[in-house]
Amino acid sequence: MSIQQSLVLESKQGSLIVSETPIPQLQPGELLIKVQAAGLNPVDWKIQATGFLVESYPAVLGSDVAGDIEQVGEGVVGWAKGDKVLFQGFYRNERAAFQQYTTIPADLVAKIPSKYTYSQAAAIPVSLSCAIYGLYAPKPIGLGLNPTIDPSVKQTGQPVLVLGGSTAVGKYAIQLLRYMEFSPIITYASSKHSAHLESLGATHIIDRQEVPLADLPSVIAKTTELPLKIVFEVVGDTETLEAGINCLVDGGALVTVNSRANTDRNDGKTVVAVFGTVHLPHTRAFGKVLYERLPQLLEKDVIVPPRVEDLTNGLKGIVDGLQRLKRNEISGFKLIGHPQEPSS
Ligand SMILES: NC(=O)c1ccc[n+]([C@@H]2O[C@H](COP(=O)([O-])OP(=O)(O)OC[C@H]3O[C@@H](n4cnc5c(N)ncnc54)[C@H](OP(=O)(O)O)[C@@H]3O)[C@@H](O)[C@H]2O)c1
Repeated sequence: MSIQQSLVLESKQGSLIVSETPIPQLQPGELLIKVQAAGLNPVDWKIQATGFLVESYPAVLGSDVAGDIEQVGEGVVGWAKGDKVLFQGFYRNERAAFQQYTTIPADLVAKIPSKYTYSQAAAIPVSLSCAIYGLYAPKPIGLGLNPTIDPSVKQTGQPVLVLGGSTAVGKYAIQLLRYMEFSPIITYASSKHSAHLESLGATHIIDRQEVPLADLPSVIAKTTELPLKIVFEVVGDTETLEAGINCLVDGGALVTVNSRANTDRNDGKTVVAVFGTVHLPHTRAFGKVLYERLPQLLEKDVIVPPRVEDLTNGLKGIVDGLQRLKRNEISGFKLIGHPQEPSS
């Protein structure tokens, strides 16, 4: 067994086609994974559209993986063939999700709790990474609110704002803020998601269909008398970023999901542009902390995954799913592809 089916981006800003590629070579300390479910993220269509992040082609994309351990690399202890795991992949072919087999260092995976399907598990890694690196990871990677993911670290009674709470990232952010007892947890989202966002920990939903961004500071002032020191901006456009900064008290800090945002400021406010990945040399230590703590956070329902929609038609089905993401047609759930299923 050395050849597999992959969804391949042929060239920079080129087409995505299903093609045969070599199965990645297992290195010491790694696991070879049979990919059962692969989550789709906005970054996947953005890479195809703009050519950013990926250096060499043909490229396999996708970075949300749930699957089975197929082979255990030299020196790995604690894992066995057949174990069900979830993890965050990366923008290199040997770490990518949109293929039948991929590899990952053994210290960056978590066991899938028996209460979750592969699809639910594949809805966790990337969106959770973005939220937890942005909020908890040490400065300057994130805001440094809880770098050891310690359950006793609290910010009880501190108000916080999440702009874009109904996004997958926003939902994890709300849960992580609830874990630290922030209150009130105010979020800007479509009110159709109110009940679900409240179940995750949001205390106030400002309806984005009713309230323009410019009115946010006055609406928030009616919700809390305390100064707003923390904002998480999960939309990634300049308008939303500026609106978030306007809501902050002097000296406050905002984290944005736009990893390329300009963070230079001279107004005393801090802007952190998060790149939520376990795979860079300077982010890996926090990634190890995350994957040590994740099984317990999932078992105890501190973190629950969003709703999912399973895509049909194997790897080819992922291409249509990415188009739906690009057209902004996805609201309140995550799309999941299935690389082991045949494509027509
Ligand atoms: N830097 C990183 O490491 C990193 C990692 C992952 C994702 N991201 C970025 O984070 C953003 C969210 O990703 P995601 O996967 O969580 O997205 P998603 O779940 O696919 O987002 C869909 C949601 O976006 C909401 N939305 C769209 N425009 C909005 C606006 N102007 N204000 C408020 N909500 C809005 C929609 O809300 P309604 O349903 O309420 O209309 C919809 O529910 C993307 O820009 C993505 O590229 C960054």
